[in-house]
Amino acid sequence: MLLIKNVKLVDALGERGPADVLIGEGKILSLDGGEAETVIDGTGLFLAPGFLDLHAHLREPGQEVKEELATGLLAAVRGGYTDLVSMPNTTPPVDTPEAVRALRKKAQALGLARLHPAAALTQGQEGKTLTEAGLLKGAGASLLTDDGHTNEDAGILAAGLLQASAFGLPVAVHAEDASLRRGGVMNDGPLADLLGLPGNPKEAEAARIARDLEVLRYAVRRSQKKPHLHIQHLSTKRGLELVQEAKRAGLPVTAEATPHHLTLTEEALKSFDPILKVAPPLRTQEDLEALIEGLLDGTLDAIATDHAPHTQAEKEMDLLRAPFGIPSLEVAFPLLYTELHLKRGFPLKRLVELFTDGPRSILGLKPIHLEEGAEASLVLLDPKERPVEPRNFASKARFSPWAGWVLGGWPVLTLVEGQVVHQALE
Ligand code: DOR
Repeated sequence: MLLIKNVKLVDALGERGPADVLIGEGKILSLDGGEAETVIDGTGLFLAPGFLDLHAHLREPGQEVKEELATGLLAAVRGGYTDLVSMPNTTPPVDTPEAVRALRKKAQALGLARLHPAAALTQGQEGKTLTEAGLLKGAGASLLTDDGHTNEDAGILAAGLLQASAFGLPVAVHAEDASLRRGGVMNDGPLADLLGLPGNPKEAEAARIARDLEVLRYAVRRSQKKPHLHIQHLSTKRGLELVQEAKRAGLPVTAEATPHHLTLTEEALKSFDPILKVAPPLRTQEDLEALIEGLLDGTLDAIATDHAPHTQAEKEMDLLRAPFGIPSLEVAFPLLYTELHLKRGFPLKRLVELFTDGPRSILGLKPIHLEEGAEASLVLLDPKERPVEPRNFASKARFSPWAGWVLGGWPVLTLVEGQVVHQALE
């Protein structure tokens, strides 16, 4: 038994407490205290449901030089995540039930965050032949996606949505038109021109979202079950407007935004630092403001990291050659707690919802609220500020665009069904 005394509570229902939270048998047993072997003084801290990341690249199998399950899932629990969806753009891609089962087995043995592997929508993520949605679901796949690649063939996406809907699986898309994006390494516009770097236009995202929503409309019309399209790492104001319009029309679409698109803009590229090279690219202040509005008004359903680790050597290449991606599992919550909640007054209740019930509902998982009987997959957060120190990351990618930023809201205890998986209490 574990007792967290005098701790403030926050979940999607709101802020309350302080309470004395008694945890045992994998559940919250009481909010009024009780006898326990271990007692933690929660004064000044706050307790939230464990976070779920819908979008992380853990690089297994085949790219363990960048990340592996052990380091990625340790980074996850340090970031307050109790659940995580791994992307299938590995070597080879995760496109068979055997591969999904192997990942789940290995992750279970690690006993860190719970892994919900995503599987490829098409074989080899080549965009030509669909994978077996039913068998993948049976093996434990949480969603289907060719993320890391764009789905150029609208017919394949339509067939994929129809097939996935039969098994209740969402299809997640990296919505960028490859022919418009071309070799762009940053947001297209005057700044890219000034810096002499090839631009990736915002219209590449908007055009692809518009097309994918029409494909979804078709799938809805032709399916007996409800297809579910999920738009990953939305980065533009226009893309957001399209999703908002589709939601108003009742289309079954959900969307996520990343910590980097919510806190950084193309201006950062003036440093020419390849750490900032990401797909889709960092956009403008106007886009960033629209995304924050989208978090508030429900156009965006979740904050997802797109944690994309690469080796130091790869990220030290010049901007044209370095791979796309920013690692963020260990900083996502403190970053947004500080930059959105503390600095902009973004409601904490909604912020927590975007890390918990929002992403959980996309996977069809029940919400976790801090009540008697609730599953004790929880995170204890400390508002005390400290700087981001990438050299201490558990992730193999020990670099960060937020290095040195002073943040509060650090996870100091993470529990999965009552088991301690991360502890950094003073
Ligand atoms: O920045 C990105 N990195 N975007 C992607 O779509 C893929 C990802 C990766 O796998 O590194």
